[in-house]
This record gives sequence, C-alpha cells and structure tokens, in this order.
Amino acid sequence: MTLVSEKLCDHMAVAVTGLDLNRPADAATQAELREALNRNLVLCIRGQKLAPPAFRDAMARFGTPMRRLQLASTAECAEVNIISSEDRDVLGDGKKLVNGASWHTDDSFMREPCSLTMLYGVVVPSRGGDTQFVNMHAAYEALSPEMKARIDGLQVIHKYQSSRQTNKVSKRPESEMKAMPEATHPLVRTHPETGRKALYLNANRMEQIVGMDRAESDALLDTLIAHAIEPRFQYRHAWRQGDIVIWDNRSTMHKANADYPEGERRLMHRVIVAGDAPY
Ligand code: SIN
Repeated sequence: MTLVSEKLCDHMAVAVTGLDLNRPADAATQAELREALNRNLVLCIRGQKLAPPAFRDAMARFGTPMRRLQLASTAECAEVNIISSEDRDVLGDGKKLVNGASWHTDDSFMREPCSLTMLYGVVVPSRGGDTQFVNMHAAYEALSPEMKARIDGLQVIHKYQSSRQTNKVSKRPESEMKAMPEATHPLVRTHPETGRKALYLNANRMEQIVGMDRAESDALLDTLIAHAIEPRFQYRHAWRQGDIVIWDNRSTMHKANADYPEGERRLMHRVIVAGDAPY
C-alpha cells in the first residue's frame, strides 16, 4: 500500500490517505502507521467508512481494545463507545453533556490509563466541533531548569470526580465508582516506547499533589496547565467526515469543542487501547 502523508502542524500531527481499514493493513504499513504516531503523537487516517466491528478490529492492530462503561457503546460492538451531540447526563440531571470539553488525557483516574484513543468522525458538523491537542513533550521540554527540578519526582492524585473539575462528567452508579478508585501518577512521565519525558496533567481529574498543601498544589497545577495549553504547543483538528484520529494519551492532552451550529449533529465512535501504569 502507498501511504500519502501530510504534516498538519510543525510540532505534531500528521494525516495519511491511501488506506481502507476494512482490509487489514499489511505488516509494513502497520509499522509505518505506528512510527508516524510515535513521531507525531496525533495520527489522522482520512476517508474511512467502517462499521463498529471493523473499526474495533482495525484499532486492535495498535493495542488491546478496552471496555469503558462511562460512555454508551454501539449495539454491534461493546468496545466501540459513542460520543454524540445527543449525550445526556442520564443518571444525573438529565441535561446535555459535552464529554471532554476541558483539557485532559483519557482515563487518568485509572491506575493503568489507556495508552491510545481512536476517534472516528461518523457524522461531523458543517463547521466547529474541532478537537484541540497539546504536545506534552514540548510543554515539558520548554519548562525552565528550576521548574523541571521542582516537579521531577512529584506524584498527583487523579479522581473520576475531582473537586478541581472544570467540566461536568456523567454521574455513574455506585458499583462503577468502586471500580475506579483514585489513582496516583507522576507529574512527569516517561514514554515507554520513545523514552521522552512529558508533563502528565488532566485539568478535569487531578485532585492534589501528594505531600503538598492544597493551596500550593492548586497554584502549581494551575501554573503548569496554563503553560501546557499555550498556543505554541497546540494543534487544532478540524474534522472531515471519515477521519479516524489516533492520539497518544501518554504525550498529549486534548479537548472537545461544542461550538457547532445548534441543531447540527456530531457523532463520533471511540476505541481506547490498554496502557501501563505511568512511570
Ligand atoms: C474526548 O475527549 O475523548 C472527545 C473529544 C472530542 O469529542 O472531540
């Protein structure tokens, strides 16, 4: 297969065309995709038309798909979640819910957060609804030597329902909450495949830095988030129907935007694949 690549911004993100994922990519092409993802952190595969089982199977070439109950699943395939303009906080106040509307990395409230997320644009609005990303390696590398020395070795408590939460998350049954107790992760993590260091932040799930008083912890986390989301570290993906965007949660944060015209639909299918405990 011949892949055509297009760099989407200078410091991250690449798009490829020339693939139909209904047919498994050969080993060389799959290795090329993986390499493109590791180098660019965000990989867009254009022009796909995939039923949920085919989407899951294509993504299983990148890792082991995981089930997550916090989002609805497609009827055909439990590992394919739905993110939709019609999402509601069904067990909570029943109101419209925009999943992922603040800067975050997926699953950080889990002890072993997913490594990659794959989002497939099934129905995209005529304008708006972009997904923004930040390069957390670049954000870490741009810190002053003093700040790097201050934060190296610090650990942070992450929770599904953090008291610092900036975006409402869906209410979950008690039984499910017990399956996601808080997790403690390093503030600076090392990517297990590339060995590069990255800031590991999640504006919506971080509770407090271990061993630091609340005010100092809040101030440091706020400073680091403000630094990481500076425009120089960002890429903004404007969706085309049929895009699959794969991102590495170990080296990026992302954010959804619900700024598309009222009444227009946005429907994404999502797969996440297993990861390890961050170190
Ligand atoms: C997410 O946060 O995983 C969803 C991103 C999006 O809908 O753009």
